[in-house]
Amino acid sequence: MRKTPLRVGLFGTDDDLQLHAVAKEVRALGAEDLLLRADALEAGLPVSELDGRMLYRGVDVTDVEGFYLRGIPAAYAPFMEKDDELVLYEDWFERYMQERERASFYVAWLLELQRRGARLVNGPTAASVLQYKPFQLNVLRSVGARVPRTLISNDPDAVRAFHAEVKHVIYKPVTGGAVTRSLDDETLEQLEAVRAAPVIFQERIVGDDLRVMLAGNDIVSSVAIRTPSQHLDFRADPVYSGGDASYEPVELPEAVVNQCRAAARGCSLVFAGIDIKRTSDGEWVFLELNSSPIYLDVEYKLGHPISRAIAELIVGVRPMG
Ligand SMILES: Nc1ncnc2c1ncn2[C@@H]1O[C@H](COP(=O)(O)OP(=O)(O)O)[C@@H](O)[C@H]1O
Ligand SMILES: [Mg+2]
Repeated sequence: MRKTPLRVGLFGTDDDLQLHAVAKEVRALGAEDLLLRADALEAGLPVSELDGRMLYRGVDVTDVEGFYLRGIPAAYAPFMEKDDELVLYEDWFERYMQERERASFYVAWLLELQRRGARLVNGPTAASVLQYKPFQLNVLRSVGARVPRTLISNDPDAVRAFHAEVKHVIYKPVTGGAVTRSLDDETLEQLEAVRAAPVIFQERIVGDDLRVMLAGNDIVSSVAIRTPSQHLDFRADPVYSGGDASYEPVELPEAVVNQCRAAARGCSLVFAGIDIKRTSDGEWVFLELNSSPIYLDVEYKLGHPISRAIAELIVGVRPMG
């Protein structure tokens, strides 16, 4: 019998309901939860590493055995809105460098936790705020999952040729984080803009939007997102953003489950929210894997025990896969 309760950390913002939902499940499993505010350094709260011991607001957190990370700190250009325009702060360089130092301190600590064998959901390289969609698509192809026909390019001629061949084309950023749009005539006129940075162009897949939550080896939730009207990207639908989406449980074929498992492993994810399109002729087309998906709405509405599964992973009572 261990004398002290097992301790796990949860890293995110204080107002994050998902973090608190997982914390509650951690406590239900008899472990101790430590909430580490992602903005602690920015807020000037005391965080120090002394001779290899990590002290967060006076508490020694060196030996946490598991860790749920809602996101990994990264440095962004410090901008603000001024007269309807986004402008940099005058002291942007200083701010940016400070943010880079804060992010580096956190990531170094996470790498150390990983080295010590702590159960990280997910590890610092996988749980990035940035996504590496082209790599994910290659992982998906390598495990035999179907992905849309895809061109990633900064070459307007290549985009025109792809469009001529594929016809219904969508585009989205390499890192994610923007609404998917249709490559229409107007956009085709402005293709010179892609020379600045590559963009993902993809065959448009028509079908249901599925969200699959994989924890370790198990699918803990698998649903089709239902909104009354069809939008290319369901997040652009006001019904969805207003919280009025409904979900229909979906049974995945064994082959698709295995592709989910293999793809998550290939992307070093122990917990993943996997986006799949299901076509009317029964094809399962994979779009991406999210390292820190938002799932609470599904959990509330259908009772799928996703927070519980994450808690079990970090506490160590569910195999990491
Ligand atoms: N090739 C595609 N065909 C049809 N819809 C797509 C395609 N790619 C993306 N979408 C729609 O846009 C949404 C967002 O794309 P996704 O690849 O998941 O990126 P992210 O969630 O990082 O923005 C998807 O959930 C889907 O609804
Ligand atoms: Mg997505």
